[in-house]
Amino acid sequence: MVWSGILIYWAHDIYGGFFPAWFYSAFSIDHRLAEGMAVHFAIGWPLVVSGVLYLAMLIVSGHWREIVPDREAFRLLVPTILGELKLAKHPPRTRKFNAAQRFAYTGLIFVVALEILSGFAIYKPVQLRWLSALLGGHESAHLIHFIAMVLIVLFFVVHVIQVVRAGWNNFRSMVTGFEVKE
Ligand code: HEM
Ligand code: HEM
Repeated sequence: MVWSGILIYWAHDIYGGFFPAWFYSAFSIDHRLAEGMAVHFAIGWPLVVSGVLYLAMLIVSGHWREIVPDREAFRLLVPTILGELKLAKHPPRTRKFNAAQRFAYTGLIFVVALEILSGFAIYKPVQLRWLSALLGGHESAHLIHFIAMVLIVLFFVVHVIQVVRAGWNNFRSMVTGFEVKE
C-alpha cells in the first residue's frame, strides 16, 4: 500500500519536497500513476476485508482484553519503554503483551481504520461527502491519509526490530498460531 501510494503521490506531489527528486529516479517511481492506482485498489480490498475479520475475531474471542491497555499498562508504560531501550534494568514482566505493545497495537488499529476511512473519503469525495466532512474536508482527509501512512511505517520499523529481538520462537508462534513451550 505504501509503495503504490508513492506511485500515486508522484503524480500530485502536494507536500513538495517530501520525497527528493533522486528518490523518484532511483526507484523509477515517475509516470506510474495508473499502475499505482491499480495496485492500491487491488490490495486495498483484501486489507479492508482482513481488517474487518481481525476486528470481529478480536471482539468475539475476547482477545481484545490482552491488547487494550489496562490499568497496569498505564502504570508500566514508561518503565517498559525505558527497559526496552536499556535505560532501566529490566522491562517489567507482564502476562502476554507488555504495556508498550498494548498501546502500540491498540493505537495501530485506530490508525489503520483512519487510513482506510480517509482513503475512501479521498477516493469518492462526492458520494462520500459526509465522510470527507467528518475528516475536516478533502484537503484534511488527504493529509490524514498521508500522516497515518507515516505512522504505520514507523510502527512497522519498530515492530520488525522488536520481532527480531524477540527471536525465532515468538515469530513461529505468530505464524502458526501455536506457542512452543521450552
Ligand atoms: C495501509 C493502507 C494504506 C496506505 C499505507 C496508503 C497510502 C497512500 C499513500 C502514501 C498515498 C499517496 C499520498 C497522497 O496522494 O497524498 C495514497 C493515496 C491514495 N489512497 Fe491510500 N493508502 C492506504 C489505504 C487506502 C485505502 C483503503 C483506500 C480506499 C479507497 C485508499 C485510497 C487512496 C486514494 C484515492 C489515493 C489518491 C489520493 C490523491 O488523490 O492523490 N488508500 N495512499
Ligand atoms: C504493517 C504491518 C504489520 C502490522 C499492522 C502488525 C500488527 C500486529 C499486531 C496488531 C499484533 C498483535 C497480534 C494480536 O492480535 O495478537 C502483532 C503481533 C506480532 N507481529 Fe505484527 N504486524 C505487522 C507486521 C509484522 C511483520 C512483518 C512481522 C514479522 C517479521 C510481524 C510479526 C509479529 C509477531 C512475531 C507478533 C507477536 C508478538 C508477541 O507475541 O509478542 N508483524 N502484529
